[in-house]
Amino acid sequence: MKKSLLLACVLFSLASPLLAVGVKGDAVAGKQKAAACAACHGVDGNKTLDNTYPKLAGQYADYLVKALKEYKSGKRSNAIMAAQAQALTETDMANLAVYFHSLKSEIGTLKK
Ligand code: HEC
Repeated sequence: MKKSLLLACVLFSLASPLLAVGVKGDAVAGKQKAAACAACHGVDGNKTLDNTYPKLAGQYADYLVKALKEYKSGKRSNAIMAAQAQALTETDMANLAVYFHSLKSEIGTLKK
């Protein structure tokens, strides 16, 4: 009994990064779309153009999708990202979110 519980935990912890927090998307398609984001968010989602720009690498996929939808709808107000999000379909958003979620986040400081 205990062993099977342990096994279930191990399997879940191995599988959960692949689930990308409930968002179904295609990371390969997301990577292609992400070329448009690299100038500001970095090729790896970490090296941002400006230190005030958010890192996308490793962020929860459902959060990224929500943010993109809100930029598109105007609920989140930012002129730069509103323009970026207009061109994205819901599928693009899911693909991008799964891709950025899969990247390793570099935790650091805002100081260079
Ligand atoms: C011209 C620069 C620029 C480009 C290109 C750009 N972004 Fe952004 N992005 C920003 C800035 C600036 C912010 C912070 C906006 C704010 O304060 O709400 C941001 C914020 C975000 C956020 C919110 C992150 C958070 O932690 O809340 C997401 C998600 C995001 N961008 C995704 C993308 C994606 C996906 C693309 C490519 C399709 C992209 N961005 C292209 C500049 C850019």
